[in-house]
Amino acid sequence: MAKHHIEVSALVEKSYDVAKKAQSHTHSPYSNFPVGACIKFIGDDQLYGGCNVENASYGATICAERTALVSAVAAKGKQNIEFLTVIANTKGATYPCALCLQVLAEFCDKDFPVYIANAEGILKQMSFRDFLPHSFDSLYDI
Ligand code: THU
Repeated sequence: MAKHHIEVSALVEKSYDVAKKAQSHTHSPYSNFPVGACIKFIGDDQLYGGCNVENASYGATICAERTALVSAVAAKGKQNIEFLTVIANTKGATYPCALCLQVLAEFCDKDFPVYIANAEGILKQMSFRDFLPHSFDSLYDI
């Protein structure tokens, strides 16, 4: 049974389970650093899991957060993210990488919650804005 460090809704608790299950599907023989993620879109009941999928080229590796996002987009098209849950087997927090943040930024209003978790449970809640207050989206302004 997960021991969460903060109070979370039943749905967020479920997202932890989905992220953890996805993490178990990781393909990370190069880093041995399994990561899981879960994305929920606004107005959609479904929870989409993702894991990191590494590659012998290293550079072609895709993080768990982007795997979850592209699965959700493939299933439902472009929607706005309601929340994201990320799990890694670290003692402390593992935060989304900057590349994932830039990709996620195109599918959200910046204030959505990000739940950071480890194998024991959810450690903390942050706002996407805490990670990426400004993102590159100037192409829309041309
Ligand atoms: N990784 C993720 O999947 N998400 C993160 O938030 C951090 C890093 C993956 C990429 C790579 O497969 C492994 O973790 C080590 O960097």
